[in-house]
Amino acid sequence: MARIGWYGLGSMGLAMATNLQKHLVRKTAPSLIYSNRTMARGDALKALGGTPETSFSKLVAQCGIVFTMVSNDSVLQQLVSSAIESGHSLKDKIFVDCSTVHPKTVSATATKLKEKGAIFLAAPVFGGNPIAVDGKLVFAIGGPKKAAEVVRPLIQDVMGRKVIDCGEEATRSSLLKIAGNIVTVNMMEAVGEAQVFAERTGLGTGPMEELIGEAFGPVAGGYSKRLTTGAYAPPLDSRPGFGVSLAIKDAKHAFAMAQDHDVELPGLQVSLDNMEAAREYAGECLDSSSMYGVLRQKAGLQFWNDKSRQGSS
Ligand SMILES: NC(=O)c1ccc[n+]([C@@H]2O[C@H](COP(=O)([O-])OP(=O)(O)OC[C@H]3O[C@@H](n4cnc5c(N)ncnc54)[C@H](OP(=O)(O)O)[C@@H]3O)[C@@H](O)[C@H]2O)c1
Repeated sequence: MARIGWYGLGSMGLAMATNLQKHLVRKTAPSLIYSNRTMARGDALKALGGTPETSFSKLVAQCGIVFTMVSNDSVLQQLVSSAIESGHSLKDKIFVDCSTVHPKTVSATATKLKEKGAIFLAAPVFGGNPIAVDGKLVFAIGGPKKAAEVVRPLIQDVMGRKVIDCGEEATRSSLLKIAGNIVTVNMMEAVGEAQVFAERTGLGTGPMEELIGEAFGPVAGGYSKRLTTGAYAPPLDSRPGFGVSLAIKDAKHAFAMAQDHDVELPGLQVSLDNMEAAREYAGECLDSSSMYGVLRQKAGLQFWNDKSRQGSS
């Protein structure tokens, strides 16, 4: 089996890499070589037998399959450029990016790597941190079929419950991811509105949450819990489950594509405005569901609820 590398140990990446390393231990395969900007994030992975490597290009040199899970397009582009510029051969290496990036980034990255004899798969994921911890994410894979088949056993029932095959065109999986996030962000807005309504009318957030979970499913129920547990505005020394700036990036990717195709996204616009207002009011350390704080303010309540943090500093 090719040596496997992993870059990116954020809210999602650490959980995913942990499941992958546990799988490699079960298979008595060589350990995962991991890297991250903040290397200390990998301490738990090291305790499971993972091998730290501070340099991404040195990690790439040692591995046949390299997963990346980073915040945004520019971080992915910087990593790939550093691997190319290192001068190490990239021939036949498979790069699997699980981040949410624009299809144009996918296309440019695939072309750059192909010129070096490497293969690029776009494999964005659906589901938040608790689902990543459980190894139950949904993956959408796009890119050369042979490489996708090599990588699939590292994903199916290891990091994910389902792999959606998006075909040979890698951009299609990132398109699906961005389309999916239109639903995610609109749903967070809808749950936030319903919970503010429930609180202000005296119905209460408890019965509302019970109904949301029962009638609209565990995903909507989970979004409600982000509000009622205060996770929409977590402590300043913690990492949000799905950072508000990441969701803003995803919404902007959707708007860029919608504009190219004369599609209107009015619901997403409302959610984006509220996320941006939340970030302006409360800073960067917010979950994507933090439009709730702005909806609270519009209804005459404080941005913070009794379980969230209580201020911006
Ligand atoms: N969270 C979710 O629910 C969710 C669900 C599906 C998809 N996604 C997507 O998955 C990706 C990762 O999300 P996440 O929630 O895990 O994000 P995150 O917690 O913010 O982690 C981001 C990762 O990127 C690294 N990074 C950020 N800026 C960097 C830079 N300038 N140079 C090098 N590394 C850098 C971070 O390193 P440090 O550890 O050093 O900060 C960390 O490893 C994003 O594209 C997001 O949109 C997220």
